[in-house]
Amino acid sequence: LLALQTSKIRNAAQVVTVSADGKSFKIKEQMNEIGLIENATVIVGSDGTIIDVGPEEVLSNKYKDFTFETDIDATGKSIIPGFVDGHTHPVWTGDRVHEFAMKLAGATYMDIHKMGGGIGFTVNHTRDASKEELKDLLHQRLNRMMKYGTTTVEAKSGYGLETETEMKMLEVLHEVNAVHPVDVVSTYLGAHSVPKGKTAAEATEDILNRQIPELMRRREEGKISPRNIDVFLEKGVFEGEDTKKILEAGKTAGLLLNFHGDEIHPMCSGQLGGELGAAAISHLERVDDEGIIAMAKKPTVAVLLPTTAYILRLEPPPARKLIEGNVPVALGSDYNPNAHCMSMPNVMNLACVLMKMTMNEALVAATLNSAASLELSHKYGSIETGKQGDFVIIDHSRWEHIIYEMVDPPIHSVVKGGKVVF
Ligand code: NIG
Ligand code: FE
Repeated sequence: LLALQTSKIRNAAQVVTVSADGKSFKIKEQMNEIGLIENATVIVGSDGTIIDVGPEEVLSNKYKDFTFETDIDATGKSIIPGFVDGHTHPVWTGDRVHEFAMKLAGATYMDIHKMGGGIGFTVNHTRDASKEELKDLLHQRLNRMMKYGTTTVEAKSGYGLETETEMKMLEVLHEVNAVHPVDVVSTYLGAHSVPKGKTAAEATEDILNRQIPELMRRREEGKISPRNIDVFLEKGVFEGEDTKKILEAGKTAGLLLNFHGDEIHPMCSGQLGGELGAAAISHLERVDDEGIIAMAKKPTVAVLLPTTAYILRLEPPPARKLIEGNVPVALGSDYNPNAHCMSMPNVMNLACVLMKMTMNEALVAATLNSAASLELSHKYGSIETGKQGDFVIIDHSRWEHIIYEMVDPPIHSVVKGGKVVF
């Protein structure tokens, strides 16, 4: 008998492949094409990658001599790719529930930031926390994300703002990735905020002369594995010139550019991202037409975060304009102490209602296009031969129920690399 370690998930009412056909991202009307197969089966090999997907009647015959270690009867259920959460800040301690009350009473994000709250509050707590404590917290948070169907997550540092704590956070991400089923793609965000007592220029100097060289040393030693570099490009935080210097240094260090831009004030982040060849820009509530044109060139993926606009009562990002402007749109939860959301189904629901995306577009944005924002869509984001066997099995014959059933979506199980992890 062949290949004992394989997995079979059979006879699903619907398998939504999000088939990319060799494309690494989807734009415009392609975002509505989701590759739906009825009465379908998926086969995953011993290395965790997909061997086959197609109609049950064809595959049951083709693989009749195989013995499967995992064999799931998905009759009456539907299968979609595991979610790729394109933007999170999951390593921190010290929650900010007190600030939620302040915001409900009318304080803005920047009011609280200028008072030393916001990121500054979380930085104080995270600097004091031990690595073990932060690893435990990250592990628990990844478990919660996984229950909502996330199988790959982009995760940032950024609550240290000095070398030691930034490196501690990257080590936490690296070490937890090695033991947790969810794949963690880490991002260095030393430029998340200007630390207390420094100017933006001084903070930029510290990043360029101390933090990035130390990051390169620890990466060389195999202690950390940053893939991306991020900056909070915002008025009164890191503005255009400093952001450019930091991103260019990151690029020289071999990191992909993936930064926060145009969230509260228009900062020409699309133009900067286009000029530097950024992989992705997040937020974009205030992106302008020229920014959209610049992003469409490479293209630079727009990672939209509907939880942030919702919680801060901002005008949501112009998803329709970005899609019409040939920019691949992706989604992220932005999980952090300000926007405390771990659920990609909830993010998709908000994207549909608040940003006027279709359910098909939201699914593509939460899978293939978010994988593309990390330049990892050859590996994640669709149910196709050769990609990782990462799936969400939905307890309904129509997949849209994962978006439609708010707050408590009907998730039967979550599969990572062919293995049931939830
Ligand atoms: O993506 N805007 C900057 N960064 C985060 C918020 C982080 C925080 O407030 O702790 C964001 O929304
Ligand atoms: Fe963020």
